[in-house]
Amino acid sequence: MSTEVKKSGRLIKAPENFLSKEDAKSPALMRRKFLAASVSSAAASMAAMGLASSARAASPVSGAGDPNILNLPTHTTGLGQPVAANPYGMPSQYEKGLQRRESPGLTRVSAASVAFTPLQGTFGIITPSGLHFERHHQGWWDIDPSKHRLMVMGLVKNPKVYTMDDIMRLPSVSRIHFIECGANTAMEWGNVAVPTVQYSHGMVSCSEFTGVPLSVLLEDCGIDMKKAKYVLGEGADGSSMTRTIPLDRALDDVLVAYGMNGEMLRPENGYPLRLVVPGIQGVSWVKWLRRIEVGDQKWAAKDEAVHYIDLMPDGLHRQYTGIQEAKSVITTPSGGQTLLDKGFYNISGLAWSGRGKIKRVDVSVDGGRNWRTARLETPVLSKAFTRFNIDWVWNGGPAILQSRAQDDTGYVQPKINQLREVRGTRSIYHQNAIQSWKVAENGEVSNVQVY
Ligand code: MTE
Repeated sequence: MSTEVKKSGRLIKAPENFLSKEDAKSPALMRRKFLAASVSSAAASMAAMGLASSARAASPVSGAGDPNILNLPTHTTGLGQPVAANPYGMPSQYEKGLQRRESPGLTRVSAASVAFTPLQGTFGIITPSGLHFERHHQGWWDIDPSKHRLMVMGLVKNPKVYTMDDIMRLPSVSRIHFIECGANTAMEWGNVAVPTVQYSHGMVSCSEFTGVPLSVLLEDCGIDMKKAKYVLGEGADGSSMTRTIPLDRALDDVLVAYGMNGEMLRPENGYPLRLVVPGIQGVSWVKWLRRIEVGDQKWAAKDEAVHYIDLMPDGLHRQYTGIQEAKSVITTPSGGQTLLDKGFYNISGLAWSGRGKIKRVDVSVDGGRNWRTARLETPVLSKAFTRFNIDWVWNGGPAILQSRAQDDTGYVQPKINQLREVRGTRSIYHQNAIQSWKVAENGEVSNVQVY
C-alpha cells in the first residue's frame, strides 16, 4: 500500500439498500429513485459526518471530541432487552435495507419470478438463509412435513415411499455448495442492463446443505445397475418441475437435502426436501422433491427441451448443458456504490466453479491491462463460493475494476467478447463473463462492458 495516501476509503452503499418495496414496484420510478437515492444518501451521509461534499475530509473523530463517545447513550446506562425477546433472532433494525429483491417488471407475475441475493452486503462465503435467492416457476409453498412423501421408483428392485421421518433416520452428510440459476447474469448478454451486483449476479447463493446422499436411497431401493443410466427428480409444486440427472452424477455428490445452514430448509427453498446437485445449474435442484425415477434414457422434460437450452449463433439449440463454469464478481466496490475518498479500499468479491475448486483470482483496476493476484480466503471448497480480497489505493482517477477466476481444471473465466464469439448474443443461460465496474472521478461506480 502507498505510504503517501493515509486515508481509508469509505463508500456509500448501493441505493437499493435504501429502497422500500413500494418504491421498487415500477421500473421507471426505481430508476429515478436510484438516482435520487444516490444523491440524497450521499448528501445525508456527508451531512451526518459533518462534511461538505467537496471536502472529502477524514472522520469527524478529531480533537473536538466526538459526542458519540462523550455523551453516554442509554444502551450504556440502562437495562437492555431480556433473553428470548425474539425467540427466532432477526437482523438489527439498522440492517433492514439489506433484502432479497425482485427486479421490477422482469416477469408478469411474482409467483413465477426471481428475488435476487444482495451480494453487495454479505460477507464470507455463506449466504444467510433469509437472503438466499428465490426462483419459482409457480409460486412457493410451506408444505406440511408430516404429509410429505418421497417415492423412489423405476429401474429399482424395491420401489419405496419414504416419509420425512424415514429420510431423516438415514445416514446424512453436510456440505457447503453454491447454487446458481442458469439464467444468472442473463440480462447482460447483449449489453449492460442492470445497475447493481444484486441484479446482475444475485441469482447465486451458497449454503451448507444437510441430507442423505441420493446414492444411499438408490441403493436402499436396489437400483438396477445394469440398466439404469439416468435419474429423474420431480417437485410437488404446480410447475411440473422435472429434471434428468445422469447416473454417474446422481451416484457422486447429489444430496436429497432437508437442512440448510444448520436448520430445516426455508419454505422458499424447497422445505421439507430438495435435490442438491453441486456444480449444476439451479433448475436441477428440484424443490419440494416428491419423486425420483430411475430410467435408461433422458426424459426431455419441458424444462430441458423448451427452456434451459442455449440458442447458438447457428440457430441450433444446445441441450443438457448443466455445469456452471468458473465465474467471479467484485461485490464491493460495485455498481450503484459511491467512493467518498481517495485512499485505501479493500476490493472484495466472490468466485465459484461448477467443476471444482477456485485456484486463483486476478484483479485489474485498469480495465484488464494489468492484473494482480488476489488473496483467496479460507476455506476454499469444491463447488462453493470462495471469497477473495485485494488491497487497492484509489488515486481519484477513473478506474475499471474486474476480476478473473481460474478453477483447478485450468479453465479461465472469459471476457464478454470471447463468450459472444462462441455463444452469440441470443443466449439466456450460462453467462459467466468477466464483470467490469467503472469508477468515475466523482466516485460513482457503474456497470460497463469492456471488450
Ligand atoms: N423446483 C421446483 N419444484 N419448482 C421450481 O420452480 N425452480 C428451479 C429450482 N427448483 C424450481 C425448482 C430453479 S429455476 C432454480 S434456479 C432453483 O430451484 C432456485 O432455488 P432457490 O429458490 O432455492 O434459490
